[in-house]
Amino acid sequence: MILVTGATGRIGGRVVRELTAAGAAVRALTRRPGDVRLPGGAVAVRGDLRVAESVAPAFEGVEVAHLCPVPGWPVADLLAYARKAGVRRIVLLSSASLPGGPGLIERQHRANEDAVRASGMPWTFVRPTAFMANDLSWASTIRAEGTVYDAFPDASLAPVDEHDVAAVAAAALLDDDRAGHTYELSGPEPLTTVDRVAILGEVLGRPLRLTVPSPQEFRTTLAAAHPPAVADAMIDVLAAATGTTAPILPGIQQVTGRPPGGYAEWAARHSGHFRRKDA
Ligand SMILES: NC(=O)c1ccc[n+]([C@@H]2O[C@H](COP(=O)([O-])OP(=O)(O)OC[C@H]3O[C@@H](n4cnc5c(N)ncnc54)[C@H](OP(=O)(O)O)[C@@H]3O)[C@@H](O)[C@H]2O)c1
Repeated sequence: MILVTGATGRIGGRVVRELTAAGAAVRALTRRPGDVRLPGGAVAVRGDLRVAESVAPAFEGVEVAHLCPVPGWPVADLLAYARKAGVRRIVLLSSASLPGGPGLIERQHRANEDAVRASGMPWTFVRPTAFMANDLSWASTIRAEGTVYDAFPDASLAPVDEHDVAAVAAAALLDDDRAGHTYELSGPEPLTTVDRVAILGEVLGRPLRLTVPSPQEFRTTLAAAHPPAVADAMIDVLAAATGTTAPILPGIQQVTGRPPGGYAEWAARHSGHFRRKDA
């Protein structure tokens, strides 16, 4: 039995599908089990990762757990419940930005990894770069005005396809030999914001504008969707990535044996989000 937290999310949802397709029995943690549709082989269980006691029953009978962090979760308490229930291995969704930086996002991921190491259970850390899916936040202004608003046009990322992140997490969950490994995952190429907007325009068959708001305006937009401290941390990450060339990381090839999926491929798969319904 494998417990997947974040099971209704962009990564966890795909992890559940990969695991059930491989024949594994899956318990999918969510705060709203009545609302979710899962593939055969997966059962939804209720739990709130911010309330460790509420997750304790979900660990019973579980061999391996996929932990998808939630800001402010009591990670050490959750791990103590997992250990007490007999969970024998943890796969943690972490972040590739962790080794480099002193910012809030890095600190949170570092604290998660430290807690997992301290738990005494064998672990695998999956450290992706920025998800390509983050660019879905551009969808509404692309649909409405053919415009992306981003204050960091020259920030270089090597964004990763969430399918690949899920494939690595699922492989790690299924294979005990992945214990003790840290997998750093990126997409196949460094891309600036300008590059991604151009690729997206090519895929959509219409040129897109990139409008650069002031950092303050951009922060206000981000803060509408994220807590202010997270919005600030995201801005710090993008500012630090400006004028650099993002490194390409080997984890996807290492684990899946195939190269990471590219941005154009991702954009084609998600093009419906960016097209006007009447177009
Ligand atoms: N975005 C990036 O570029 C990036 C890069 C590296 C790492 N990450 C990490 O990836 C993770 C986000 O993954 P994602 O994009 O797949 O998530 P997502 O699509 O935003 O979905 C969030 C998931 O977390 C669950 N969740 C949220 N709060 C919860 C709570 N209190 N208790 C239980 N479940 C809760 C939600 O489940 P319900 O709503 O069904 O309860 C949902 O399944 C974060 O930990 C982030 O640090 C992100």
